[in-house]
Amino acid sequence: MCGIVGYIGDGNAKEIIVRGLEKLEYRGYDSSGIALNCGGSIDVRKCKGRIADLEKLINGEVFDSHVGIGHTRWATHGAPSDVNSHPHCNIKGNIAVVHNGIIENYVELRKWLKDNYNTTFKSETDTEVIAQLIGVYYSGNLMDAVYKAQEKMKGAYAIGVIAAEEPEIMVAVRKNTPLVVGLGKDGNFIASDIPALLKHTRDVYLIENDETVLLTRDNVTIYNSAREEVGREVYRVEWDEAAAEKEGYDHFMLKEIHEQPKGVLETLMRRLDENDNIRLDGISFTKEDLEKINRVYIVACGTAYHASLVGKYAIEKFAKIPVEVDVASEFRYRDPLIDEKTLFIAVSQSGETLDTLEALREAKKKGARILSVVNVVGSSVTRESDDVFYTWAGPEIAVASTKAYTTQLICMYLIGLYMAALKESITEEYYSYIISELKKLPEKLEKLLESEPQIEEIAKKQYKRDSVFFIGRGTDVGISYEGSLKLKEISYINSFAIAAGELKHGTIALMEDDTLVVALATQDKLYEKMLSNIQEIKARGAYVIGMAKESNKRIEEQANDVIYIPDCADEVSTVLAVVPLQILAYYVAKFRGCDIDKPKNLAKSVTVE
Ligand code: AGP
Repeated sequence: MCGIVGYIGDGNAKEIIVRGLEKLEYRGYDSSGIALNCGGSIDVRKCKGRIADLEKLINGEVFDSHVGIGHTRWATHGAPSDVNSHPHCNIKGNIAVVHNGIIENYVELRKWLKDNYNTTFKSETDTEVIAQLIGVYYSGNLMDAVYKAQEKMKGAYAIGVIAAEEPEIMVAVRKNTPLVVGLGKDGNFIASDIPALLKHTRDVYLIENDETVLLTRDNVTIYNSAREEVGREVYRVEWDEAAAEKEGYDHFMLKEIHEQPKGVLETLMRRLDENDNIRLDGISFTKEDLEKINRVYIVACGTAYHASLVGKYAIEKFAKIPVEVDVASEFRYRDPLIDEKTLFIAVSQSGETLDTLEALREAKKKGARILSVVNVVGSSVTRESDDVFYTWAGPEIAVASTKAYTTQLICMYLIGLYMAALKESITEEYYSYIISELKKLPEKLEKLLESEPQIEEIAKKQYKRDSVFFIGRGTDVGISYEGSLKLKEISYINSFAIAAGELKHGTIALMEDDTLVVALATQDKLYEKMLSNIQEIKARGAYVIGMAKESNKRIEEQANDVIYIPDCADEVSTVLAVVPLQILAYYVAKFRGCDIDKPKNLAKSVTVE
């Protein structure tokens, strides 16, 4: 939530910062702004709306500036407006701050500043408090003032700060929200995420919690909370700028849907050796460790939660260990039974989702071993986990998660199979069969993507709908949830997913003439049962889009439209079944004229409760 950028160097600060913000717009897009040090005074330009609106505002303005900060916002404190947009300044206007996160004690601090310094505030934001606080402590040494302000601030924040009187430095702090530093040839950078830096450098420092960074044109120095200098290895980003570009696709979401064969292949191949044994490079999880575990929780939010449901299926089916799955926002507050015999698996694309992170901390505090399944290297979840199982999806920019999800599914299968191999709870033949089915998925995904025009046609017929139901059985239940979430988040159609067997316990009351239902019947084992469910809703007049494996043609007798996925083992059909639903959601949203990559009210990483 919110993206921050900062630059100090020989280049044109305005251009570099605005281009960087464009790459972070997925993090929040209700307002944006920049603050530049222009010859010893700070110029701020900011407005409500997209970065394109900011660009219009500053179009033609020339700033002689080589140091500055920028922000793209997802509102928490105060509605999106020009005045609430970042950067924020102190009363004197000689300090400017951009902030991602939340200052929990900002009400208290506002009062303290009013009572003691007669401070007046322009905005309703918590961020303005940071600028004012640094302002009252500032007497010519920005580092000092930032350290003093931190002593009073509670909450989560990544901030970038500049001072009018010190044009040769920029200061940044990380506390529980992401911050990376880019090391360029002609200057240095701060950003909430790597894509903002890739135009200039692939060499970065991953900043840790409670670290303060002092940047000059030629130097970057990292300090801990005791103001001691700390060393850091340069992290070389493996992907380049092109990986974070649309590459000819209309939207990132469509590009990312098409990257799934590659992401799945990559995630598999990084974990399989030449004999198809699962390698846990960097993870030390032994048979003895597994024997100590008597409870597994998989905890996540949104799409990652839907992947966790498949994790439960895979671990229970292969490793025969009971698993509980929970949404992180609920898990945190339900006083779950956790001790040192608990394995806690956190699943997160961004690795920054606050609810997931807090659930992880809760589990860790009580002694659980933490394994995380994460896409973003070096993110908060990875730092706080004992072991990390990366999804190799590459950068996911669209707010609607697609390739992160399918690669999370692969990780879930691999974790289940690894535990099964340790426990010897499945036969070698069955293990080899599932691995071989997993290895066939990239090719089958390629084939499945060829049905995009057919799914586009279906979307064209249905995009004006007000509501849609998704039903399925077994692993198709989780896929129904995911298909429904994908549709509602980008097309704003009211969609609802339910286990098909549950329909007759209430929801079938809503079935009437022409009700649209997407019915998933991708598992041989449950195929007949699903055909009966389809028959039941058809009898009430529903219009059914069915999905089945290509050998299971009888669904054509029931459904109005049918989407086929390639034949595969029931166990792994999830990875294929979700793809047509992603494409359906994409085209429905496109026909409705929605802003697909940046749906309203959402942001890519949710770093607030
Ligand atoms: C996915 O399409 C959503 N935008 C959302 O549900 C997302 O999966 C959720 O916020 C969790 O994010 P994470 O994977 O980064 O933790």
